[in-house]
Amino acid sequence: MRDDMRTDRELSLDFLRVCEAAAIAAARTMGQGDRSYSDQVAVEAMREVMDTVPMRGRVVIGEGERDDAPMLYIGEEVGGGFHAGEELAESCPEVDIAVDPLEGTNLCALGANNAIAVLAAAERGGLLNAPDIYMDKIVVGPSSRGVVDIDAPVKDNLKNIARRLGRDIEDLTVIVLDRSRHKKLIGDVRAAGARIRLISDGDLSAGISAAVAGTNIHALIGIGGAPEGVITAAAMKCLNGEIQARLVWDPERLGVDKDKVPSESEVLDRLATMGIRDPQKVYDTDDLAPGKRIIFAATGVTDGALLKGVRFFGAGKRTHSMVMTTESRHIRFVDTLHIEGGPDTVIRF
Ligand code: FBP
Repeated sequence: MRDDMRTDRELSLDFLRVCEAAAIAAARTMGQGDRSYSDQVAVEAMREVMDTVPMRGRVVIGEGERDDAPMLYIGEEVGGGFHAGEELAESCPEVDIAVDPLEGTNLCALGANNAIAVLAAAERGGLLNAPDIYMDKIVVGPSSRGVVDIDAPVKDNLKNIARRLGRDIEDLTVIVLDRSRHKKLIGDVRAAGARIRLISDGDLSAGISAAVAGTNIHALIGIGGAPEGVITAAAMKCLNGEIQARLVWDPERLGVDKDKVPSESEVLDRLATMGIRDPQKVYDTDDLAPGKRIIFAATGVTDGALLKGVRFFGAGKRTHSMVMTTESRHIRFVDTLHIEGGPDTVIRF
């Protein structure tokens, strides 16, 4: 790395600004009932600030293909490094970026808890270029690393998690997305005796909560989005947690009509073009986020288990974020006051 090259610590604070901007924009639309609009403003705000980051960034997980998404599409080049002169550009690191400008579009539109603006970054090739299809996941925190198996019966996994946490299965709380495809899973968790928190959306922030002691969430299990799985893996690398995952496209497993999801041959073709040769592969944390230098940032849009939502007050706004890197091993919870008022503005603790 060149001496004048941005360090991961510095970049992480740049990415903090990016997430804060997206969260503020989305939070302004909270409760308006228009999830697409909430998403659009978050995307625009994130994209705008992204270009002020001194990097040569490439979106590997974003808002979709170039034809469907006007910005933050997969393959888009972002960052100030592309607009700088040659000499300056060379001091801007090459970075792969996975973004979710508004994770939980419905949550924001309804004013419900746990909507976040989030991104993960790594050196080139450090994040799996995953398709926007479904992914079966199990996410646990550091204490339960190494004792769960996505193919094992739910009861066995819960028994192992409980043993590692020194408690009974009855004292565990498992988060599951409230979807008809999870009928059997929910039955299995109930039969094992654990408590369940069914959520309407937002398995990414739920997975992060499972890796942080004190949230009273001990695992996330079930099928959600694959892009969210990759960003979760980046967070697990920083938090010492674990994710195991497998891509899913079978309409029967998803509990949907087959015309509602791409056909198997379409999915397999797409996976092949993305370089995924074994579609049935069980991915672990390192497969999803192989990077050695991972940066993760998230800002609360609405209140959540880990992050407070954006608060607006007369002279500005206040955001609550989480920023971490594998390099520095610092996990920062950042409470930022964005002051817009004049010199008389009163700062409250
Ligand atoms: P959006 O932020 O795109 O609305 O996604 C929210 C979410 O709940 C994710 O957290 C989850 O991975 C995925 O949707 C589940 O997909 P589906 O709603 O189709 O079951």
